[in-house]
Amino acid sequence: MSSVYPVSRPRRLRRTPALRSLFQETEVQLSSLVLPIFVEEEVSDYVPVSAMPGVVRIPEARLAFEIERYAKAGIQFVMTFGISHHLDEAGSDTWHENGLVARMARICKETVPEMIVMSDTCFCEYTTHGHCGVVHDNGVDNDATLVNLGRQAVVVARAGADFIAPSAAMDGQVQAIRAALDGAGFTDTAIMAYSTKFASAFYGPFREAGGTALKGNRKSYQMNPMNRREAIRESLLDEQEGADALMVKPAGAFLDTIRDIREATHLPLAAYQVSGEYAMIKFAAAAGAIDERQIVRETLGAIKRAGADIILSYFAMDIAEQGF
Ligand code: PBG
Repeated sequence: MSSVYPVSRPRRLRRTPALRSLFQETEVQLSSLVLPIFVEEEVSDYVPVSAMPGVVRIPEARLAFEIERYAKAGIQFVMTFGISHHLDEAGSDTWHENGLVARMARICKETVPEMIVMSDTCFCEYTTHGHCGVVHDNGVDNDATLVNLGRQAVVVARAGADFIAPSAAMDGQVQAIRAALDGAGFTDTAIMAYSTKFASAFYGPFREAGGTALKGNRKSYQMNPMNRREAIRESLLDEQEGADALMVKPAGAFLDTIRDIREATHLPLAAYQVSGEYAMIKFAAAAGAIDERQIVRETLGAIKRAGADIILSYFAMDIAEQGF
């Protein structure tokens, strides 16, 4: 008995919309989407990000209003990025009790206590040189940066953040942050590690959105995008260090990595559809070359299908408001 054509006819299950939905294997839900937001201090107006049509920097004074608006639309998770006007060599504003990172967490949690706040934990938006840590003559000093990451994590946990999300790409950052949090009594504050973070050109538009001063590149600390085995290893190291959830970033060009890590760990896995992925879709749609909503559905679906449980996407609010 043959199980190929003409006996097998996969089209039988595609005849009607109802059948197609019955046999659909992957679903992207708003409840698994995290909205990244940009908050700028000391400005009174929204600042459009020209490289990311539809994305704005929110003036700090409007953050409470925006968080309420997101919550009403059904957004439950945000990742906060600050645009600081208080830069220094080390990014010390990030570990001041009343610095921008802490204020963002406090405002979000005071406005909508149920909103889960993930705090991007890095220094690049708070340093004069734009690197993700302490810079010495021979580059970014890993271990000095770990101390500062621990300080920032404790301050932002005290301000109410639910998740510390270290994106500095320092070795040992998860362990250092876990130890600092536990030492200060924040045993329930979770860590979502940017565990496999590639040195990617897909972050291009973020440089404008986040206003970083970086002149060079981050290749001495972020990963080479050509490395498959190392990508798995990086995430497994963060698991051993105590991460509660892992992440692959960027997402769309690294679906193989998402799948590899999904199969190598039982931890929850996030993937970040980054600024360049967003911009490519927005500009192509604006040029009439593609259908934005279908492309968003397809790209997020692919990320989910590859094995991500959670997706960070600048499209999250559009999806909340318009559905899929
Ligand atoms: C901070 C950070 C970056 C992004 C998230 N966290 C920039 C970078 O690493 O260069 C990029 C996000 C995006 O492109 O959407 N280190």
